[in-house]
Amino acid sequence: MKLADRYSKTQPSGMIKIFQAIEKMEDVLNLGIGEPDFDTEHDIIDAAAKAAKEGFTHYPPLQGFLDVRKTVCDYWKRRHGLDCAPEEVLMTAGGIQVPHLAMQAMLNPGDEVILVEPYFTPYFTQVEEKGGMALQVRTTEENGFAPTVDDLEKALTPRTKILLLNSPCNPTGRVIPRRQLEEIAALVTKRDLFVLSDEIYESLIYKGEHVSFATLPGMKERTLTMAGMSKSHCMTGWRVGYGIGPVELIRAMTVIATSQTYGLNAPAQKASAYALANHDHKLVERKKIFDERMDYVTKRLNGMKNVTCGSAEGAFYLFPNIKSTGLTSEAFVWKLLEDAHVATIPGSAFGVSGEGYLRIACTQSIEILIQAMDRMESFLAGLK
Ligand SMILES: Cc1ncc(COP(=O)(O)O)c(C=O)c1O
Repeated sequence: MKLADRYSKTQPSGMIKIFQAIEKMEDVLNLGIGEPDFDTEHDIIDAAAKAAKEGFTHYPPLQGFLDVRKTVCDYWKRRHGLDCAPEEVLMTAGGIQVPHLAMQAMLNPGDEVILVEPYFTPYFTQVEEKGGMALQVRTTEENGFAPTVDDLEKALTPRTKILLLNSPCNPTGRVIPRRQLEEIAALVTKRDLFVLSDEIYESLIYKGEHVSFATLPGMKERTLTMAGMSKSHCMTGWRVGYGIGPVELIRAMTVIATSQTYGLNAPAQKASAYALANHDHKLVERKKIFDERMDYVTKRLNGMKNVTCGSAEGAFYLFPNIKSTGLTSEAFVWKLLEDAHVATIPGSAFGVSGEGYLRIACTQSIEILIQAMDRMESFLAGLK
């Protein structure tokens, strides 16, 4: 058997290598996991079982059930002021399928997509797979890991079609302020761009506000909002995501998805609708827990030798600066794992701008975070 040439270059990502190493080790405190540690609430599971018992065991409508898409619209209107109609929503197999389908629908070979570093790693592969070109725009800690309009403008060429934004951001946890988003929106209009706005962490904001990009004046027809159930409702295993955008694009994505997934798991859709309609109070509860954890870890990190860490803004990630240790992100992470049995992800796994940083996911109980910080503190104190 011979694999296709295009897969011959596929290597496990920096993150996968760490996870593979952990499997062979004992007593590792894993701060690398990008999913909430909470199980799905039982009433959500009951809603799935109820739907299955009521007969939702057949092929679902290809775009998703109408009532489920309507619930998505209600949720975004209620929480973020985004006006949308069910025909502007597509239910997908996880949030990760949304940019995949959108790029399939939009990119001709050689068309360019701007990725703002540090970025969620799969985006790069998704662009390249479609024959697109990923233009990586660097950011710095000094400018809050948010793209300046100047930097974006310098990267643009006549072939640039899509700008991919992710706020709150994985891996930095940074939230792009409204003022900056407005400036970006002006550039989007001026240069006739389309925005894929990954807002999967919309429910986890600790500082400032979540601005849904499509709510900015003139942006609705230029934006596909991507989100899903994984992070907000602790439903990673259910694989439910959705895109909200212009009808023409949603229709094209639906046609493409037909030959891939042929609709999204029916009971999982129904459970998601139940969760979106009934669990706003749980979002508040969990946000408080993450906020306390992030606050604790930030304080501890700032008390450690050669580490500085900005306070949490969104998602459940911290992105401490370890440049003063003199080690690269990769070297630091492997040494920390081998010597102290604490797993983190090197910032460089998310693009060059992440060099000198670590991604720490606060997706463990406070007891584990306390132990992990104790180990990390001793490790840093002993580092020459
Ligand atoms: C920024 C970002 N976008 C999208 C996803 C995809 O999430 P899912 O496919 O579980 O909905 C993730 C998951 O880690 C993420 O961090």
